[in-house]
Amino acid sequence: MMKTVLILNGPNLNLLGQREPATYGLQTLDDVRQLCEHSCDQHQLRADFRQSNHEGVLIDWIHEAGAAQAAGQVAGVILNAGAYTHTSIAIADAIKGAQLRVIELHISNVHARESFRHQSYISAVAAGVMFGFGTQGYVLAIAAMAHLTQCDQRI
Ligand code: DQA
Repeated sequence: MMKTVLILNGPNLNLLGQREPATYGLQTLDDVRQLCEHSCDQHQLRADFRQSNHEGVLIDWIHEAGAAQAAGQVAGVILNAGAYTHTSIAIADAIKGAQLRVIELHISNVHARESFRHQSYISAVAAGVMFGFGTQGYVLAIAAMAHLTQCDQRI
């Protein structure tokens, strides 16, 4: 059965393309969605691409993904939690509670930016972290997720 990769985007990522283009580039969120769908196709994965500005909605999706992962339907989540990365113990607890495989993602190199972006609550509960490669990071994270899924199937 073809597994789904949930690609979850948090606050302000709906503004991609117009928001601080020097930092986040000119691609829109819809461009990124298409990039992810194409990339998932190449790995025989299905993309489920979502965005919300609301912490609780992201948490609900994480719970949903955890149940679907346990049922063998979901490979894991690629999560760009935006600024919630640096503030949300609740999102980190949700990932841990749902026993969800998460690849944390940032478009920008957060470590080359303000010090408040150097702290992530998500990294400690993530399988891995991808940052600094622009929107191409989504493609790289999908390849990493495909690799982890293949490793599971070899066990
Ligand atoms: C971001 C980095 C965060 O610090 C910021 O708050 C964002 C986007 C990124 O993709 O580079 O909203 O997650």
